[in-house]
Amino acid sequence: METIKGLRGRDLISITDLSKQEILDLLELTAYLKKLSKIGVKNLNYLADKKIALMFQKHSTRTRSSFSVAIHELGSIPYYFSWNEMQIARGETVEDTAKVLDRYFDGLILRVYGHEILYSFAKEFRGPVINALSDEEHPCQIIADLFTAYEKFGKLDGLKLGFIGDTANNVATSLAYACAILGLEIRLIGPNKYQPKKSVLERALSIANKTNAKIKITEDINAVKDLDIIYTDVFVSMGMENEREERLRVLAKYQVNAKLMDVAENAYFMHCGPWHLGEEITADVVYSNRSLAFDQAENRLHTSKAILVALF
Ligand code: CP
Ligand code: NVA
Repeated sequence: METIKGLRGRDLISITDLSKQEILDLLELTAYLKKLSKIGVKNLNYLADKKIALMFQKHSTRTRSSFSVAIHELGSIPYYFSWNEMQIARGETVEDTAKVLDRYFDGLILRVYGHEILYSFAKEFRGPVINALSDEEHPCQIIADLFTAYEKFGKLDGLKLGFIGDTANNVATSLAYACAILGLEIRLIGPNKYQPKKSVLERALSIANKTNAKIKITEDINAVKDLDIIYTDVFVSMGMENEREERLRVLAKYQVNAKLMDVAENAYFMHCGPWHLGEEITADVVYSNRSLAFDQAENRLHTSKAILVALF
């Protein structure tokens, strides 16, 4: 776990900010913190002298709660700000906001629409900037998902993952990058219209070239066969509401339902939440004993703690 020291003071904006070893170290640290938590050791003092702000431009339940509880359990107080109540929503620049917050805080956890805003904050803010979801990526989610898969299978090596549905979205992108970094197999299963952007695919493939990861893109839902994990996410992500009708129409046949889970045979089901029942997923799957969705949600807490311990 030595390499984790190298994360101190760094930003976490893209999952590609992390090397394979750093991801594995974060998972090991998570396992340790989760074990402590399960025997009742929840109150650690590690962040006692640190001030960390959460500033969210979009809705959140899991990310906001898990980071807030994580900060509390690590001995500090989470300072939550709704984007709309800050001067930034009235035109104060990102740069000035970042410079001002830098005078009060040691770290920022940001949920934003435009991914580039995160880099603009990071340029002016000296402490770690953590991406709590942007239109492009959701790295903290994927660290929790990898941990959940590791818990279930006792390993990551050799696992075959599939993401089905809107394979161009933030969660799919971070998952594809993570599989590329870790040398895993990932099948991105969805209609042509919602497949990853060229730049994302090129980046994932260039990482995969070095790690022997397998990245396959297909429109064929039968590609779920022999997967270990089927992952899906909403068809209409936050900020895409104006495309709702079209997305539901084009993506409908990629719904994860009992029939698809039969094709997948033994695969477990994953979803970052929140889900939209009857759209990308049916209730009989998400509440079944093959679903890891609530474990993923719980693990957001343990991985949030590990991320904070590593970066601060
Ligand atoms: N998965 C996830 O990020 O959930 P929230 O939007 O509830 O934070
Ligand atoms: N892709 C979803 C994830 C929500 C956690 C969204 O961006 O709305």
